[in-house]
Amino acid sequence: MDREAFPTDAPAVVTCGLPYANGPLHIGHMRTYLSGDAISRALRLLGQSTAFVCGSDMHGTPVSVNAYRKGVDPETFAMGWHDQYKDWFEQLDVSFDNYGHTHDETNQTLTRSIVRALDEAGYIYDREIDVAWDPELEMPLPDRYVEGTCPYCGETARGDECDEGCGRHLEPGEIEDPVSTETGQPAEYRRRSHKFFRLSDFQDYLTEFIDRLEGTDNAKNQPREWIEGELRDWCITRDIDWGIPYPDETVEDLVLYVWVDAPIEYISSTKQYSERVGEGTYDWERAWLEDGDIIHVIGRDIIQHHTVFWPAMLHGAGYNEPRAVLASGFVNLDGRGFSTSRNRAVWIEEYLDTGFDPDYLRYYLIGSGQFQQDVDFTWSRFAEVVNTDLANQLGNFAHRSILFASRHLEEVPTKPVSDEVADEIDTAIEDIGRALTEHTPRLLAQVPVSLARFGNEYIQRHEPWHLVDEDPEQAAVVISDCLQLVKAIAVLGAPVLPNLSTKLLEALGELAEPTSPTQALESPRGPITAGDEPVQQIDEEEVEELETELEARIIPPEDESTMTETEPLEEDRVSIQRFGSLDLRVGEILDAAEIEGADELLRLQVDIGHEQRQIVAGVRPFYELDELVGQRVIVIANLERAEIFGVESDGMVLAAGEQADLLTTVRDAPLGSRVT
Ligand code: 2FM
Ligand code: ZN
Repeated sequence: MDREAFPTDAPAVVTCGLPYANGPLHIGHMRTYLSGDAISRALRLLGQSTAFVCGSDMHGTPVSVNAYRKGVDPETFAMGWHDQYKDWFEQLDVSFDNYGHTHDETNQTLTRSIVRALDEAGYIYDREIDVAWDPELEMPLPDRYVEGTCPYCGETARGDECDEGCGRHLEPGEIEDPVSTETGQPAEYRRRSHKFFRLSDFQDYLTEFIDRLEGTDNAKNQPREWIEGELRDWCITRDIDWGIPYPDETVEDLVLYVWVDAPIEYISSTKQYSERVGEGTYDWERAWLEDGDIIHVIGRDIIQHHTVFWPAMLHGAGYNEPRAVLASGFVNLDGRGFSTSRNRAVWIEEYLDTGFDPDYLRYYLIGSGQFQQDVDFTWSRFAEVVNTDLANQLGNFAHRSILFASRHLEEVPTKPVSDEVADEIDTAIEDIGRALTEHTPRLLAQVPVSLARFGNEYIQRHEPWHLVDEDPEQAAVVISDCLQLVKAIAVLGAPVLPNLSTKLLEALGELAEPTSPTQALESPRGPITAGDEPVQQIDEEEVEELETELEARIIPPEDESTMTETEPLEEDRVSIQRFGSLDLRVGEILDAAEIEGADELLRLQVDIGHEQRQIVAGVRPFYELDELVGQRVIVIANLERAEIFGVESDGMVLAAGEQADLLTTVRDAPLGSRVT
């Protein structure tokens, strides 16, 4: 059954995926936030009561791993990023009605009550499972503490997600060949009792739900495979000390899996908004328990969570289901993905430092490409889009119209505009509704620029600069039409270009934010005041500078030839204890011999003080055999024994760079001395 077109009488909730409070954001992260912002502004413009809510995702291993590596407790660490995110969102005009976080009291209380409701309804049970365990650190290895191979597609997977392959959520114990991310050692398994959610009970519900769901095709179609296949119950607890404790006093040491309390923040954040503005203004209970239009705007990597786990939880606990899920493609940087570790990103801080209007980025990220497709960013492409669409079309049309009117129009027009112009504005108003009902935020960005394109063509066709002398009355009609188009651009473009909209409205003598699309057809209030060009061209030199700066700091990929000399410093620090777990010793090479069939390898006999070791080393191409004998070297003495080309190797000799330059001592530290 098709739902009513937007706007409806129901309260709308627009949400964006909660960012993990664990590090800096780049412009790629902004695509969903800016689009969600434009959608909620457009809904409000059309008169629908709307809450645009989000918050920081404070829990889970994505936060605790980073906090641990920085040596900060997770709460302090996450709160720091939370405050930073609020500030960045504000600066980019992402105007959340409420931006909370998952660790606040509202969310903890609501999470406990929803989990209890699911438990009371019989959807939660205990099951013993094998969880990954680090034998060296003697700790469990939930989610991001472990890496291995995805059992579904064979790609390298990280903890609870197959982020480089099929994108599936992975359950604890599912990852193959798990290795601890903390020690690099193979993980072991330990038997533990965990709480499971009976997802399998929701198969019929989800099958029907997915038929009703609106949004982008990827969000409506991808989940079918998961829902129609075997829906396995979902482990909702973790052995970790950061998160919301499982709400049952008899259960010790288990916190809720981050994907339980994170989406509940959507409801908590709406509740906080309602409590602030009063339920008469916005009724969160009606939205979440009755008939709200719930719209989730997310990245395509978290479709499964929003179309399978989350609706099942909502349904099981008696809440309303999402109406739409819009899953965006990623933003690439010059054809390749952003990479935090390689500094291959345009950071938010950096964008703000350029001084470019946030509207430019908003327009670029909302308006380029279909929502579910990837978008490419380069500074030159960005400048081209800003210059062509915003400066040459929109800014130029608005500026020349306002300038002309301020010089030649004696009074602000009050007559209705020409039919042709009125039709164009009517179509633009319809397009705003269509963008919402068809879930195509890009159309919201196209509306103001199409109006400007029409305006430029209109002004060219009528040449008011000639009419001013030849036919002043007709000139006034043309100029009034143009002013009306400028007003329509400002009113209907406001969801995507809030700053530009304000500038244009001010020039038309209008001070209030637009509250209805029909204002696009009401004459400007006046007086008309011409100011500077509303959009400044971005010049080539600036683009070159930005591109050079970016290029200079990107750390090249491993396979590039410069890698040995330029390999980046590890961002992640290790504790002194972890370093101390390596037993590094001073040794002396007593003998070096070739290994049959292995051109690169040598069999070394090394005296490490306490004993003699046989070590296989890949140094054959770089040394003569007798050159090696007598050399002092550094040996990892407690490396696991290995068999290489059928020869046992008991330790490793350290070497630097592509030429295997052997590490040695400067003075004569006795053999067997520990390297610290
Ligand atoms: O993938 C992520 O970045 C998660 N922090 C998104 C959470 S959205 C949710 F709350 F549903
Ligand atoms: Zn996979």
